[in-house]
Amino acid sequence: MKESIRVFAPATVANVVCGFDVLGFAVDAPGDEVIMKRKDEPGIIITKITGDDGRLPLDAAKNTVSASVQHYLRDINRTDIGLEIELHKKMPIGSGLGSSSASTVAGLFAVNTLLGNPLTPKELVPFAMKGEELACGFGHADNVAPALLGGFVLIRSYEPLDLIKLPYPESLYCAIVFPDVDVPTRDARQMIRSKVLLKDAVTQWGNVAGLVSGLFMKDIDLIGRSMKDVLVEPVRSILIPDFYILREKAMETGAISFGISGSGPSVFSFAKDAGTAHRITGTIQRHLSSLNIRSLAYVSPVNGEGPKVL
Ligand code: HSE
Repeated sequence: MKESIRVFAPATVANVVCGFDVLGFAVDAPGDEVIMKRKDEPGIIITKITGDDGRLPLDAAKNTVSASVQHYLRDINRTDIGLEIELHKKMPIGSGLGSSSASTVAGLFAVNTLLGNPLTPKELVPFAMKGEELACGFGHADNVAPALLGGFVLIRSYEPLDLIKLPYPESLYCAIVFPDVDVPTRDARQMIRSKVLLKDAVTQWGNVAGLVSGLFMKDIDLIGRSMKDVLVEPVRSILIPDFYILREKAMETGAISFGISGSGPSVFSFAKDAGTAHRITGTIQRHLSSLNIRSLAYVSPVNGEGPKVL
């Protein structure tokens, strides 16, 4: 059995605008890294966290990585195992890019690989969902499932969990900008209305079906015109400065879509090529600078691979 391992797990864009809690995809960058080492005595300890500005707990019972690894070890009856975990955050926390998911998924993938892969990546998803529950109060799967499986994932149902990997056009590029404003997922979930009008539901499920069809047909225009959200975005967009101006600027720069990544504040666009994606992040960042808001930008194709051993 291997004694130590270093794993990268990717950031993810959950919701994909119209698919609240049911759609997500992974990107090549950014992402988080976990280094895991076997130790002689049973139990899990977190020895180091970098890149978090001291915001994440070192207490193994409270940290999403160790807590989900602990669930996993209990489930496979291997609580005899001892592990030391280092977490290296390479992406902003509370960004809407599945930051806690990337860490949790890296940890679960690392322990499962160390133990000779007793579970498949799909079987790891429920353990990663436990980590999400700890992080934001609800174990949604639209970050952890694509981070574990790579590509686009549809959560057709939560009970029972039914995950469908979707095809996508390889040429699709994602332009992401993280405006440095605070939007905790827990709060961004609480502000959403729990009841919706039937006419809005009709619009929404038409768009979800359109997006899924567009992904299968590799029809970029259909993908773009389906990425509209009448349920969640109208509420959450108020947390993102000049959201609708940013959309206008992105679309003028050649984006095929624009929306909130996960619960925000990151925003993202799809573009037909890398050059256009870079121009879109440039346009958005310039506007945010004019508002005195710092930002980070990432341009990436869809990540079809999921976590990887480094
Ligand atoms: N579907 C979740 C939400 C994703 O929108 O709250 C959180 O990143």
